[in-house]
Formats: sequence, structure tokens, C-alpha cells
Amino acid sequence: MDTKSHSENFIYTDWKLIETQFDPTQLQARETLFTIGNGYLGTRGCFEEGYPQSLPATFIHGVYDDVPIVYKELVNCPDWLPFAIIFNESSLEEHEQREGLRLDQGEIIEYQRQLDIHEGVLSRSLLWRSPSGKTIKVQFERFASLADIHVLVQRCQITPVDFEGIIEVQTSINGYADNQGFNHWGEIDQGKINQGFWLHSRTRTSRIDICMAAKMKIIGTQATTEISTTPGYPSWSATFNAKSQQTVTIEKTITVFTSLETEKPILAAQAKLIEQPDYQTLLLAQAKAWNQVWLKNDVLIDGDSTAAFAVRYNLFQLLIAAPKEGAQEAGNKGKTAVSIPAKTLSGFGYHGHIFWDTEIFILPLLIFTQPDIARNLLSYRYQTLDGARRKASHYGYLGAMFSWESADTGDEVTPRWSLPNDFYGEDVRIWCRDREIHINADIAYAVWYYWWVTKDDQWMQQQGAEIILDTAIFWTTRVEFNPDDQRYEIRGVIGADEYHECVNNNSFTNCMVKWHLIKALWVYDWLCNHFPEQATFLAEKLQLTAEIRHQWSEISQKIWILFSPETGLIEQFEGFFQLQDINLAADYEPRNKSMQAILGVEQTNKFQVLKQLDVLMLIYLMRQPSDFPYNEQTLRVNWDYYAPRTDMTYGSSLSPSLHAALAADLNLYPEAYELFMQGAMVDLEDRRNNTGDGIHGACAGGVWQAVVFGFAGIRLTENGPVAHPRLPPHWKKLKFQLYWRGEYHQFDLGQNSQLPNPDIQGVIFDLDGVLTDTAELHYLAWKKLADEEGIPFDRQANEALRGVSRRNSLMLILGERKYSETKIQQLMQKKNDYYLQFIQSVTPKNLLPGADALLQELVQAGIKIAIGSGSKNARIVIDRLHIGDKLDAIADGNSVNQAKPAPDLFLYAAHLLGIPQNQCVVFEDATVGIEAAKAGGMWSVGIGSETRVGAATVVVPNLARVTWGDIKGKIQRIADSS
Ligand code: BGC
Ligand code: BGC
Repeated sequence: MDTKSHSENFIYTDWKLIETQFDPTQLQARETLFTIGNGYLGTRGCFEEGYPQSLPATFIHGVYDDVPIVYKELVNCPDWLPFAIIFNESSLEEHEQREGLRLDQGEIIEYQRQLDIHEGVLSRSLLWRSPSGKTIKVQFERFASLADIHVLVQRCQITPVDFEGIIEVQTSINGYADNQGFNHWGEIDQGKINQGFWLHSRTRTSRIDICMAAKMKIIGTQATTEISTTPGYPSWSATFNAKSQQTVTIEKTITVFTSLETEKPILAAQAKLIEQPDYQTLLLAQAKAWNQVWLKNDVLIDGDSTAAFAVRYNLFQLLIAAPKEGAQEAGNKGKTAVSIPAKTLSGFGYHGHIFWDTEIFILPLLIFTQPDIARNLLSYRYQTLDGARRKASHYGYLGAMFSWESADTGDEVTPRWSLPNDFYGEDVRIWCRDREIHINADIAYAVWYYWWVTKDDQWMQQQGAEIILDTAIFWTTRVEFNPDDQRYEIRGVIGADEYHECVNNNSFTNCMVKWHLIKALWVYDWLCNHFPEQATFLAEKLQLTAEIRHQWSEISQKIWILFSPETGLIEQFEGFFQLQDINLAADYEPRNKSMQAILGVEQTNKFQVLKQLDVLMLIYLMRQPSDFPYNEQTLRVNWDYYAPRTDMTYGSSLSPSLHAALAADLNLYPEAYELFMQGAMVDLEDRRNNTGDGIHGACAGGVWQAVVFGFAGIRLTENGPVAHPRLPPHWKKLKFQLYWRGEYHQFDLGQNSQLPNPDIQGVIFDLDGVLTDTAELHYLAWKKLADEEGIPFDRQANEALRGVSRRNSLMLILGERKYSETKIQQLMQKKNDYYLQFIQSVTPKNLLPGADALLQELVQAGIKIAIGSGSKNARIVIDRLHIGDKLDAIADGNSVNQAKPAPDLFLYAAHLLGIPQNQCVVFEDATVGIEAAKAGGMWSVGIGSETRVGAATVVVPNLARVTWGDIKGKIQRIADSS
């Protein structure tokens, strides 16, 4: 199948981006779009023959050099593309008759440029008529080898269509590459080799050596060749007598090394060059290497060819920027670890600096598809910890404070000022370097997430733990204690939303810090238990005292989070709701610039308008671990508030794709799809008019997350990732795979792929409200507690507690009353004690009508039976009901971390039964329980009213007279009719 879709600008096939017209007004954006690379370097898609306004660039990971204002930038390395074709009817001596291929002159008769993302090859075919009327066919092709990252390959095929005569081709390496006017190259040297040359240059301040060597071959003619070593611009040229309709091919192979990988880049480049086979062999190796990558990384969407291509395109752009060389191994060899810059290796935007974009937006894709690369990126943070420590100590804090923008050492490189274009304009102070501190917790989060998915204990104990612990130490010195309110606060920050530049108690930051500190305590305990020597070593190295760990615990309990349990609304920061409100849709749309550009920096600070998701960012990040404050209700309430106030079009490209994932969670169509496409097309359609600066890397990573976590609804359970698909209605199929603890899981989802297998072998019963009714006993226990505390509570209020955990039930009962964590713990304990007293009175008589008969029927039918109850006291109740002998497994409140609606408990029960989850049926009386069964890919029987359990496969009012034969029959009929 090869589907094609046409956009105004391009044709997209399954794997190709095809540009059919040359549009000089789009030059720089297209150069970005046609970037190729191999995880070691990236080269913008510029034309070989050059063009006015073109921005040729090759960026190599880690090659930074000093520069005013932005401190360091990724250096534009020598340009390996220059290729001139000059022709002449009779003699090259007659200067005035020389003509060269250039697209700003003559006539373009045919033009096609295509990027094959399946093989990583960029090509261009041209039929061009010179101003004097000679027509020539030219086919260019190039790739950055993935099979050997130090090899670059270029080929040119030339066919004169209607003339004969002398043609001269000249191909070079341009050592005068600059960063938009700034030249980073100090010493330059070069030399000749057989049919080729080499160029050696050194960056001015960082003194990084780079050497490129090239060899050429001409096929299909007898040519006179010559090598010139013009300083900084070595060239090879060939002159031949061209015949009409006869094709001449020139192959150019380039090798490249820097002193970051080897002490002798000149020798390395030359030695490698000698080994290189011909173009076809190299191309074959390229296709093979990419094929391997796509086996792991492909995402197939059937039914929407534009989205299908766009997703693959975004993946391609991230994969070519993802460093393959193990930073860990590199580190061991004393080499520099590297990470992915915000604009990947495709443009000058943000100077090659590394932001939270990598950890939060890009990393999930790599963790789940190429965990080794994910580890490389995190090792970059490990290796730049010293920079983060210098930053902390400069600001007067302990521990490690990661830089908002980072380059090779981890020291802060965010520019302090942004300079106006206007002669008399004021400089604008950029505060992100001082205040956008959430990055510390973001990096800790990414480390944890990597570990959670991979269970890579070795890396965690060697590198990850140190990152989490030292960044956590920083918080103990950055928070402030407010004695009046007995709480910790973090003042003077910028949250994820950069439209508000100095705020107190940003909920996103504070809550991430809380999460970070809880995990730090956990990691330290884990180290002590599993790697005691490393625990001792780190405790000494980081001066991680018991006092600091106590502070972590205190801060995590007492840090202020502006959450209203009553409404579920989280205030973005102190005073946000008092700011002037805004109605973007009614008063500002459509527009073609950001709200900050419209209102000005100062005014924007005064409005309730967000550059990008902030509270929703928090909810999104806490969604997979299912930690506070994530739950569907909080998501909905905060979505309704914040989504309409977010500058989605021109604020930040980081927003649309994650908004799409959340909208899919909320089943919002077509909103989810529209937001997703806004992200997916950001560069392909240059939606923000800045693609020329480079690929929007974070956005590209978010697009993958929107597909996998949004539309496929992937939930992570202790037993692996589980899909909960809600595909856009026109998607017929969505296929991808995810790595989870040592193996890849395949997902092949369609519109109806939720239906499990009707050959049911296992039944999982919730206990409370299904087999027995301890709800009454819970009610009595809560009632006793509430009475003692003087809190009004009755049976009606009790209804809201069905299926809700002990802690959350207590929260609902307490409402707005403020209790300390210690008191909360005491109350929970008390309630449980009362409940335990009450269940002593339970006997087999408390089995609900029909329960015993059904259990017996199942035993006789040879169906395996498990209990899947969230209660920690399930075993006591089972004993008192005398049903233990009929059960094959018990999963209770102690079995898994994530409560319903996460499917973990039922998956665990299925696992204990040894039966595939899709051959199990769950009996449940709570809405969250039915959701959990469905999320686990199981059948479900809802006990109770349609309003409560209507989403189940089969609904019955209670178990009285329910037979297994009936239930089985009903499920079979549903399976048959689908
Ligand atoms: C966003 C940041 C992001 C940076 C780099 C900014 O516009 O506000 O969140 O890290 O761009 O992509
Ligand atoms: C971004 C900041 C960044 C600053 C300086 C702004 O456009 O939003 O995240 O630190 O530029 O690079």
C-alpha cells in the first residue's frame, strides 16, 4: 500500500516528502525540513549549487564554542555539500560563455526534491535550461550514513539533453562556514590525497578539532581531474566532454571526525576514507540500518495519510538527532556526553542549547523504543552535574541546580538579555536563567520514568540516583518556610508558562518538587537496601545527611499547592485568579502573532493568559504514575479553565500535542484531533513562520505522545503497557510497539480492538458490593469517626465514597477543613480500626444473594476464580465469609500501587491465575472498576444501575439468580455480533 496525499505545498507518500515546485520564498524553512542526519550530525537541506539567502549548516553534537551574549553555541561545521556544474560549448578559456547551474537564473522545466525517510536519503531531480538555452538533467542524492556515523555520501548524475560540449564539475568542502555571520574557526589547514583532499579546522575558543576528508569518483566518461587547495576551501574538479543524452555520475564520499571522539581526527578521517566502498554498497548499508530503526520505531496509521506521514516525519527528525554513541561508554573513554538541542541539529534557533524539551517531550519516545539512546541523553545530565553544582553554588544554594539552557558543561547559557532590532529599543531582560527552576524536577522525573520503564538498576545506581539526590538537595535550600501558615513556599519563579515572569508558589513547580522529594527518599532507601556501598558513597559525596532527608519528608508534606479539593481547580500560582481575565476566542482570534507580541511583555504578565500548559502540564505528567493531583475530575475541571486561556497558535509549540493527549483522555472530538494535527504539521506547514530556525523538537516528541498516550490511550501498569484506544473516527488502524522491561509489546489497534476473547477462563470478583456488602460497615466506621470529629456525615454523603480509596474518602469527608498530614494519618488509622472491629461480626450469611451459587457453578465449570479488591482487609473478610477454598487467587489493596481505574489490580489477578487478561471477566459494582476492567482489556459484568455501571459488557442488578451459563451466553452473543 502506498497512499498519497497532497497538500498545498507537498505530496506525502507513506515514506516520502516530495516537493514538486521550487519556491524561493520558502527557502530557509525548506532547508530545515529537508535536513538529514545520523545521530552524530545533522545537515540542513541546502542546495549543492547554493542560493542567495540560503543557510547551509552542518551541526555535530557536542561541538560548541564561545560566543557573546548567548555564551556558547553549536558551531556550524564545514559545509560538505558545495557542488558546481559549469558547462561550455567549445572551450573553457572563453570566459564569457561559461554557464553554471543556478536556480535563480535560466528556466526550471522540471523540479522534484524528495526526502525518503525510510532510508534517510535526500534527492533532487532537475531539468533546467540555461539562459543561453542549453538543457541539462541533473540528479543529486545525499545521505548521512547511519551504518557508520562518520561517513557522508553525495552523488550527482548529469545528462546534457540537447547539447554537447565541455562540462566541468567542481566539488568542495567549505571551511568558512559561519553561524549567521559569526565565524568560529581559528586555525585551518588542508591537504591532498588520491582523488581527494582533507580539511582540518579548530574552533577558536573551545579548541575542538574537526577533520573532513573526501574522495571522488567519476563514472561514465574520461575526465581530467584536478585538486586545488585554496585555503579553507579544498576542491576537486573534473572536466569532460559531455555527450547529449549520456549520463555521467560523480560520487563523493566524506569522512568526518572531531577531537571529541579521537585524539587524531586527521588520521582517523583519512583511514576511514580509504576503507569506503562504492556508492551502491554504502546506500545498501544505509537502507539496512534504517530498516532496523523502523522495526522498532514505526508508527503506522491507516485511514489518514497526512497524519500517517506527519507522524513518521516527526519521528525521523528526532531519530536523526538522537545520539547513538553511548554517552556512558563515551564518558568512560573520557568523551563528552551529548543531548538533543531544542531545534535538534537542524537550525540556528536557540543556538543548539538543551532545554527541558529533551527530558519531558522527546525522551518518552526514546525510552519506549530505543532505551539505550534514552540512557545516553540522561547520562548527558549526569556528566553535566558539575555545571549544575556550580550554578547552585553561584546562587548560594546547595546541591545541583540544572541550567535552564545547557551546552557542553552544564553551566547556564541562557542569554541574560535579548537585544531589540530597533536602534532605540530597550534590551529585554530574560529571567528564565534565574527563575525557571522547574527543570530540576523535570530531569529527576525523566530519570525516574526511564528507570520505571526499563528497570535498568545498574544505570540507576551508578548515575540516575546521583542526579535525583543532588537535585533534591538543592530544593531544601531553595524553599522558604512560612511560619504563619506552617508551610513551605517557593517564591520568585517562572513556571512552565513563561508569560508570567516572577510568581510565587507556581503549582506546577511546587507539586513537581513534592513529587521529586518523595522519590528522592525512596531512591535513597532503595540504594541502602540494594547497593549499600553506593548509598554510603553518595551520602558522603553529596553530604546527604539524615537531617536533609528529614527535611525532604517535611517539605514534601508541607509544601503549598494551590489546590481546591472542593472544586478540583488548581490555581496556577498565588494570585493568578485575581489577574485580569481574557477571552482569547472572542477578542483576539484570528491573529498572526503571540499574545506576548500583541500585549507586550509587561501587560501579558497581568492577564490570565498562558503561553503554554502549566497546571495541565502537571496533570499530564502525574497522569501516568497516577499521582496527585491526577484524576479525571481534576483534569476535566482544569482543562475547562486553562485550555481556553492558552495561547495555542503562537504561544509555544510545546502546547498543542500534549493538549491533544489530554483532550483524547477527555474524549473530546474533534478537538483532540485538531490539536494533534496542529502539532504534527507545525514544521511541514511552517505554521508558526519559524521553521527556518530549525525543527520544533519538543513538539515532534509531543506528537508521538499524543498518538501513543492520547489516541492509543496507553496506560502503564506493573504488568506492562495496556492500550485503551480512542482513535479518531477515520483512523482504521494504529500500529506501533513499545519497549517494557526487556521486551517489545506490539499494539495493533482498530476502532473495535477493545473486544477481548469470548473463551473465558477466569473470573475476577470485586468483593465489596459484589459478593458481600461491607459498604454498610464502612459507613458505620466513617460515621463513628465523623461524629467524633463533629463533621456532618450521612448515608447520602456516603454514596460518594463508593469505590474510593481510604485516603480519598477521608478527603471528601473533611472537605475544606485543613488537617495536618499527621492528623490525617491518625484519622485513617482510626477509621480502619473501627472497621476491623465491625467486620468481626461478618459470617457466611453476609454473602449477597446468588453469590454462593455462582461461585459453586464456576468451580464446577472449571473456571478459575480470583478476588480483585482494592481493600487492604480483603483477606479478613474472605476468611469470615468462608469462601477461601473456592478461590484460586487473591489480589488486594496490598498487591499493586495504582488503584482503580488503573487496570493494575485486575491484571495482577489475571497474572496470579495464569490466564491471559483478555480471557477474563470482572464482576464490579463501581464505575472505576468497570473502567479498570476495560483498560485491562477484559470483559466486565456490572452489578447495579445502568447509570453507575452501564459501560460494562453485561449489566445485572445483583447476583440473585445469575448463572454462569447466562453470562457466558450474553458475552458470546456480543462477541459474535461485533
Ligand atoms: C518555551 C520553553 C521551551 C523553549 C525551547 C520556549 O518558547 O516556552 O518551554 O523550553 O521554548 O523550546
Ligand atoms: C524562551 C526561553 C529562553 C529564551 C532565551 C525565549 O524565547 O521562551 O525559554 O530561555 O528565549 O533563549
